[in-house]
Amino acid sequence: MSDDAIAPWLQLTLEAIEHRPEQLEDALLQAGALAVTLEDAGDQPVLEPAPGEIPLWAHTRVTGLFDAQTDIEVIKGLLRRFLHASILPACRLTPLEERDWTRAWMDHFHPMRFGQRLWVCPKGQTPPEPGAVNIRLDPGLAFGTGTHPTTALCLEWLDSANLAGQTVLDYGCGSGILAIAAARLGAKRVWAVDIDPQALLASDDNAAENEVEDRIELAKPAELPENLRVDVLLANILAGVLVRLAAAFGRHVRPGGRLVLSGILESHADAVRTAFDRDFSFGPIRRREDWVLLEGVRRSHRPFPCVTSAPVPCGLAPIPFLRPCSWRRWLASATGRSGVCAGGWARDWRFRR
Ligand SMILES: C[S@@+](CC[C@H](N)C(=O)[O-])C[C@H]1O[C@@H](n2cnc3c(N)ncnc32)[C@H](O)[C@@H]1O
Repeated sequence: MSDDAIAPWLQLTLEAIEHRPEQLEDALLQAGALAVTLEDAGDQPVLEPAPGEIPLWAHTRVTGLFDAQTDIEVIKGLLRRFLHASILPACRLTPLEERDWTRAWMDHFHPMRFGQRLWVCPKGQTPPEPGAVNIRLDPGLAFGTGTHPTTALCLEWLDSANLAGQTVLDYGCGSGILAIAAARLGAKRVWAVDIDPQALLASDDNAAENEVEDRIELAKPAELPENLRVDVLLANILAGVLVRLAAAFGRHVRPGGRLVLSGILESHADAVRTAFDRDFSFGPIRRREDWVLLEGVRRSHRPFPCVTSAPVPCGLAPIPFLRPCSWRRWLASATGRSGVCAGGWARDWRFRR
């Protein structure tokens, strides 16, 4: 693009102190703003809002975008009128140059190493270690570059795993980064699913760029074969979504197979583990900043029979219920002696009249 084509914009930023952010947003739009942005003026990230919630920060900054030709003194007058204020809240005016904003963040995307041998390099940049396992990546509009701690945790896990000849399911593939890493690290077949069509597009392009498209099967979650059983399932999605997917993940991992869950804030780790506890036994967690990765192994037996010695009293109907159990408790109840220990679930019986 030539310099003549650059069309600067003006940004008028107001601090939401005396007024609510929504009031400032409405006033800016009424005054002719082409777009309004709300951002955190403090340091209070909102990481996982509850469904339907759109929380704002305690201290919010509201910015209106105007054409460079706009007379900002006129805009300020309009804002005073719309806000019923004799004095305008503290405001700042800054010019904004024309850019391809969807790509601007790429300026901060550099080659990064994960673990011992895995590198992620922005497409078009030369890998610093040509002999390493290099993934060339352009995430497009999808999530997944390795800059986020949850993706980094998964990439480090992949680097440390032996994937030779394994089957892998990348659930919520985003840019395809984990699926491609798995294929490049030796997985023989990888399924990559996402609900977002942009993610499937980006994954397709990136798989071709990394010459692994013949080993990666892209699909929407509903298109996965019902009987698919993989050696490794990776999912980097927020905790609430993971919990809802627990039963499906139990079906798609073969007994003894591995489950890798990320996208989980440390404060949510117990709730996620509990949701998956019926089908998976978990090892120690890995942490990065506020985020964790949970690694589980698919249990072989479920539900696990637990023998109770109580006789069924006459006239009482037994009702089944599930409770956590262990081999030790099962063996103890079956033989009267203590046994080896491993996690499991047991069907137990209670009685009611
Ligand atoms: C945090 S991104 C992870 C992308 C990539 N796997 C990574 O590790 O960087 C989560 C992805 O999961 C997808 N997603 C969210 N809910 C999903 C669901 N229920 N089923 C499948 N994909 C889902 C989103 O569209 C998004 O691409």
